[in-house]
Amino acid sequence: MKHTKSLNFNIKTQFILLFFLTTFVKSLFSQSNITIVIESSDYAIALQTDNSKRLWHTYFGQRLTLPNEYISISKQLRYYERNEDYYNHAYTPSGTWNIAEPALRVMHADKNPSTELEYLSHVTTKLKDNIVQTVISMIDPLYKTEVQLFYKVYQKENVFEQWTVIKNNERGNIELKKYASANLYFRNKDFYLTQYHGTWATEMQPETHRLTAGIKILDSKLGARANLYAPPTFMLSFDEVATEDKGKVMLANLAWSGNYRFDFEKDRYDNLRLIAGANPHAAEYQLAPKESFETPHLIYAYSENGKGEASRNIHRWARKYRIFDGEGDRLTLLNNWEATFFDFDENKIVNLFDGAKKLGVDLFLLDDGWFANKYPRNDDNAGLGDWQENKKKLPNGLGYLVKNATEKGIKFGIWIEPEMVNPKSELYENHLDWIIRQPDRKEYYYRNQLVLDLTNPKVQDHVFGVFDNILTKNTDIAYVKWDCNSIIYNAYSEYLAQQNLPQSHLYMEYVKGLYKVFERVRSKYPIIPIMLCSGGGGRVDYGALQYFGEFWISDNTAPVDRVFMHWDYSHFFPTIAMSAHVTNWDKTASIKYRTDVASMGKLGFDIEVDKLNKDELKYCQEAVKNYNSFSDTLWKGDQYRLQSPYENSFASFQYVDEKKNKSIMFSYLVNNRFEIIYSVEPVQLKGLDFSKKYKVKELNLFPNTTTPIDETVVYSGDYLMKVGLNPKISRERKSVVLEVSAVK
Ligand code: GLA
Repeated sequence: MKHTKSLNFNIKTQFILLFFLTTFVKSLFSQSNITIVIESSDYAIALQTDNSKRLWHTYFGQRLTLPNEYISISKQLRYYERNEDYYNHAYTPSGTWNIAEPALRVMHADKNPSTELEYLSHVTTKLKDNIVQTVISMIDPLYKTEVQLFYKVYQKENVFEQWTVIKNNERGNIELKKYASANLYFRNKDFYLTQYHGTWATEMQPETHRLTAGIKILDSKLGARANLYAPPTFMLSFDEVATEDKGKVMLANLAWSGNYRFDFEKDRYDNLRLIAGANPHAAEYQLAPKESFETPHLIYAYSENGKGEASRNIHRWARKYRIFDGEGDRLTLLNNWEATFFDFDENKIVNLFDGAKKLGVDLFLLDDGWFANKYPRNDDNAGLGDWQENKKKLPNGLGYLVKNATEKGIKFGIWIEPEMVNPKSELYENHLDWIIRQPDRKEYYYRNQLVLDLTNPKVQDHVFGVFDNILTKNTDIAYVKWDCNSIIYNAYSEYLAQQNLPQSHLYMEYVKGLYKVFERVRSKYPIIPIMLCSGGGGRVDYGALQYFGEFWISDNTAPVDRVFMHWDYSHFFPTIAMSAHVTNWDKTASIKYRTDVASMGKLGFDIEVDKLNKDELKYCQEAVKNYNSFSDTLWKGDQYRLQSPYENSFASFQYVDEKKNKSIMFSYLVNNRFEIIYSVEPVQLKGLDFSKKYKVKELNLFPNTTTPIDETVVYSGDYLMKVGLNPKISRERKSVVLEVSAVK
């Protein structure tokens, strides 16, 4: 009885409360409120001011046909007019009305931690054909702190780039305690986050899960090689997990080679707040009067037609607008790292040139171990930082090697890691103050090394100088592999201390210093290809890729692992940027399988060519020729992930050129279990022209083997896309490369 009574009471109270709330819910918005619409070809973000000039997200989704109708969206929203129920601010401040995760936290000059933001103005400009930028200005009415939200939209690709500029208009210093790049708001039934994790040799392991109430944080605090454990990259599916061709999906990357943080907060309406930017952890940033602070840029592609379309769009965007020489060509190469490690001399290297020549690749890449004399670089314990040729290994210097290679008709490239230092080095002995370390504490090392303090302009000169000296002395060097193997321990900068600047600037200034160096490198060397390497894929982001044309996916070159990594990386980055080498990491795989896998990236070899038998060599030579014949389609065409290695015993990928005349299909067996070793059924192709006719040819056949594919049949595009093609994968045919060409 008592129980029923209290239940009645509860229901009654709730009813009254609800009545009270709904009766008093009035629109925050009136007709005079400002509506801002940020549109791409197919999608739109709408924002609107309320009567107190606060700016709210009112829409994220498909572009509306009638522009006027964005104005009335707010009338459909019935959020309670109570402070604790506001979640959709365009750039959520803290210390005033907001009690959710903020995008911005400021300690003002008088030590007051509160901020309010009022809409001031906005302007939309067409920067170039296809690029439209909107800048929204907001101001704190009390402290006059200014915030500008930037939205740069690449129309055709449906790619959005967002960042923020914060300006101090006070008389004293202010401290930024949180400074997100973007703050977005999504209203959907459910949200599924695909995040990536790993460590050395296991990059990009995906994990997808439904977001639940509360905050999910993805972040890095490693400083340098910042995405060793998790890249600043995620995929967000809306309502349900997106497939290749269905579903609403966002593919995002923070263009920043340092610490980052993504907050995914599901609020009490079950909507999602996304706050993304540099990690404010131990990184409070002081701004002097009149100074401005620009955040890193968040890049995302959005699609309501599945992740395949979103990927193709971000690839196109990256090639056209972001990656260094994204629409250019690339060099195939032979690298000596896995062939020799540190154990080589001049003669051994010169002999390897013949291997490059035999294979038919463009370039020979000399890896780690060529430098340092007092502490020779014979392993990874010593010498890093001392960039003079090791006299014992290279008595005639790099010049001799470059000359020799050139005479043999191949180009020469070189490995450097200029941001780092071994404690066993002359650089360490002479410039202790150039190193990030705690002066009075024990040193901690990652791969026996420390990170140079790039906040210091002298260190920037040094790092630039390493590159510049090598290239000035050896003008024919045609390629550089730029490595970065250590994370930051003992974060402390002697330079910042000397300048009386806060230590908490270190993480920000390190990356800014790094980018200054990259800028200098690129303004003096605007053409040379540079590979972005960080002990594998420890630094892959669209900030660094402005300066680099390709990145090293992983030190793990086991081909099966690479199929999976390629699958995951390919969601965000185009194949032209993904370096893939044939190595001996996994000798259980045939040279054909290894080469067929590497042929789907930017092809290189890292083997002793002399150790190949006659057939293997013949096969590799043919594979290089084939690669050269289809690389244009691979690098510049559209990618279709046909069949996932996660859900099938074999994976299939396809690349199609713009005119739909040429396509390459790669298939790889990834499972050796007895019962599933055949491709039982055809795989439907994509991206072809329904009305064109195509013939199919198998490439990269191993000598003395024949193809079971009937190459005389002419198929319609219609058939290939509706019925498909069986690559005839089996234990004996673990990898199959098929060329599909249009016929008249
Ligand atoms: C890193 C790179 C490798 C190789 C070594 C050299 O681990 O990822 O490819 O260059 O350094 O020390």
